[in-house]
Amino acid sequence: IIVILDFGSQYSELIARRIRETQVYSEVISYRTTAEQLQKINPKGIIISGGPNSVYSDYAPHCDPEIWKLGVPILGVCYGMQLMVNQLGGEVIKAERGEYGKASLYIDDPTDLLTNVEEGTTMWMSHGDSVITMPSGFELLAHTDNTPCAAIAHHDKKLYGVQFHPEVVHSQGGIALIRNFVYHICDCEPTWTTAAFVEESIQEIRAKVGDKRVLLALSGGVDSSTLAFLLYKAIGEQLTCVFIDQGFMRKLEPERLVKLFKEQFHIPVEYVNARERFISAIAGVTDPEEKRRRIGHEFISVFEETSKNLGHFDYLAQGTLYPDVIESADTNVDPKNGERVAVKIKSHHNVGGLPKDLRFKLVEPLRKLFKDEVRKVGRSIGLPEEIVQRQPFPGPGLAIRILGEVTSDRLNILRDADLIVRQEINQRGLYNEVWQAFAVLLPIRSVGVMGDKRTYAYPIVLRIVTSEDGMTADWARIPYDVLEAISTRIVNEVKGVNRVVYDITSKPPGTIEWE
Ligand code: XMP
Repeated sequence: IIVILDFGSQYSELIARRIRETQVYSEVISYRTTAEQLQKINPKGIIISGGPNSVYSDYAPHCDPEIWKLGVPILGVCYGMQLMVNQLGGEVIKAERGEYGKASLYIDDPTDLLTNVEEGTTMWMSHGDSVITMPSGFELLAHTDNTPCAAIAHHDKKLYGVQFHPEVVHSQGGIALIRNFVYHICDCEPTWTTAAFVEESIQEIRAKVGDKRVLLALSGGVDSSTLAFLLYKAIGEQLTCVFIDQGFMRKLEPERLVKLFKEQFHIPVEYVNARERFISAIAGVTDPEEKRRRIGHEFISVFEETSKNLGHFDYLAQGTLYPDVIESADTNVDPKNGERVAVKIKSHHNVGGLPKDLRFKLVEPLRKLFKDEVRKVGRSIGLPEEIVQRQPFPGPGLAIRILGEVTSDRLNILRDADLIVRQEINQRGLYNEVWQAFAVLLPIRSVGVMGDKRTYAYPIVLRIVTSEDGMTADWARIPYDVLEAISTRIVNEVKGVNRVVYDITSKPPGTIEWE
């Protein structure tokens, strides 16, 4: 294992993902972890992340100084390098000119950390402080036009620092550098593979669950489907999958999902038709938060009733992923008074999720995985691409894509429009090119004309975005002819719609969903 001491960089998770891509397991842990605790973890290498602070400010977070003496190779990235320099007796100052964006790296020592990194390669910089004096025993590995110490090393102690971010995609030589650190400096073996993970988690599930029964709420997404597959492989009939149909899924999806699981995968699924209950629960509700709250509440009660009807279960399976488990580093302090400032914008709380105080113990076999690793696992155990590559879909489904009151009529209209969007995007090979493509129904009407008759009907909003992680997004530059085909088909084929508009707002300031 390689551990990343997180000082609050937005890239800490990304570093872990990059390391795992080299098939070496990696975890993000708190910057407060002591040298003693680290000795117990016994990592092959340590990475000190970047962070939003200046090392010379009064409230700058530090790491346990004993860490430098552990004899374990350490790579400091950005703030991590400045911290290393500062704690080991070098000097960091506010740079005359900060450096943000791409920079060419000029190599002074092409061995060791920079083996196979090309002279002049592009690296991504984002810093206002710079190292001006290295601590004793350190040597210069590379510089850029603006940054004299862009990469440094204490070869004997295996301490390394880089001012740039090798983990981001814009850093061309970044992967080579990470591989050098992981394989040559830390001497790691590439053992973190999908096959090894599947094998290990099957053993772990069996050991944990024994002969007890496990309940799983299937949603049709890649996480719960992969979870179902893994558990079924491990414990077979001791697993019961429940699929609660809230009535807010896309056209034909509930039927397709149940059929796929039963007929193709031979995993039994309890189908619960709760459509009436859900639509009554939100009848007349127009406030989006209230809608979400009621749907969440209804989900829990239907789930509890269903589980009681199905007999006794000791365990509940949950698709918790690694990003849900990592704690934020809370290193953002107000430089004036040292008070903590919250900056992390947490992703959506999944209202399809269940509260922790249900009467079950939890099995969470995906806890260690990032989303892209879940996809790999899903694929390796035979999930079809349509589930592996499925675009994100909110827990409350189409109910939050109808603004204002949700009625059966409006649901039917939206489902038909949404199907056309999916068909056209799919047919033109755009499905995997975009993050999400869907339709939204607005609860207003506008005037149109069709066959010499005046119409007064709903508009449909097309929302198609590109994104890396859903936290920021841009509207997709879809070719006009595709937009035209979608618009024409919706207006012609979906009764109740006479206008289609395209949302050209990025996130921020917009959000991806409309509610
Ligand atoms: P927003 O609308 O905040 O959405 O830009 C960001 C991403 O989150 C998805 N989303 C949800 N996912 N349960 C989920 O599992 C939810 O309740 C939920 N609401 C939004 C959204 O589709 C987008 O990918």
